[in-house]
Amino acid sequence: MTMTSDIPEQLITALRDARHVCVLTGAGVSAESGVPTFRDAQEGLWANYRAEDLATPEAFMADPALIWRWYRWRRDLADEVEPNPGHYALAQLADLVPRLTLVTQNVDNLHQRAGSRDIIEFHGNIFVDRCFADGTEHTADDSLDVPLCPDCGGPLRPGVVWFGEAIPEHALNSSWAAAIDCDVFLSIGTSSLVYPAAGLADVARQNGATVAEINPNPTMNAAGFDFAIAGNSGVVLPELVESLSL
Ligand code: APR
Repeated sequence: MTMTSDIPEQLITALRDARHVCVLTGAGVSAESGVPTFRDAQEGLWANYRAEDLATPEAFMADPALIWRWYRWRRDLADEVEPNPGHYALAQLADLVPRLTLVTQNVDNLHQRAGSRDIIEFHGNIFVDRCFADGTEHTADDSLDVPLCPDCGGPLRPGVVWFGEAIPEHALNSSWAAAIDCDVFLSIGTSSLVYPAAGLADVARQNGATVAEINPNPTMNAAGFDFAIAGNSGVVLPELVESLSL
């Protein structure tokens, strides 16, 4: 593994030669937009809670109004912030390679707002509401502490994937297929602690792809990657796109 704060020339060459690039993003990509990452201590109102204790079906069943307050706060935050240069660079990257698959663990819509298309939302989307009982999509009545499903009268929930829940089948299948098929895999702004998303890089590597991480704090998984670039995605990604465009 090459660890560097610069972009290695071999990675640029691999990207130039690539037929299919697969990118996995995590909360770090939105950090420079002002969205706190998952494993940062929470601030303000939510400082006494850990995200891991709120983002579960058990927490929702115990106190749905509390979980809705947290998600409404996170929705408002995601609405207020803007995509950063890292999001825009990834949207540009799609035009510079023959095929790009973007898999994101983020639920904040910032990739979409930056212009990326056909995104695989591995952990769902915070702006979608679903019936807690059967997962059907509905629009929540925000005047209620706990919005109700118009079909069954049970609670609606945010359309995200919580700890202990299955990844949507289409997201899982299409991201696995992309990891197997790609020639370059980029793992960006993720702690690589949450599976199955963290397993995608291994699948790519086992199938011959060049694998690189972009993260200011290199992760445990980086040792198995070809390159670990220690930098912020909002800085490294625009540089990478510029190098590719030359
Ligand atoms: N650029 C790139 N990476 C960054 C930046 C930055 N500017 N700032 C922080 N990071 C890195 C951190 O070093 C950390 O490794 O982003 C990573 C964020 O890690 P997590 O908070 O664990 O986020 P993520 O990996 O997306 O979490 C995975 O866990 O809680 C669940 O469903 C939730 O999707 C989430 C999943």
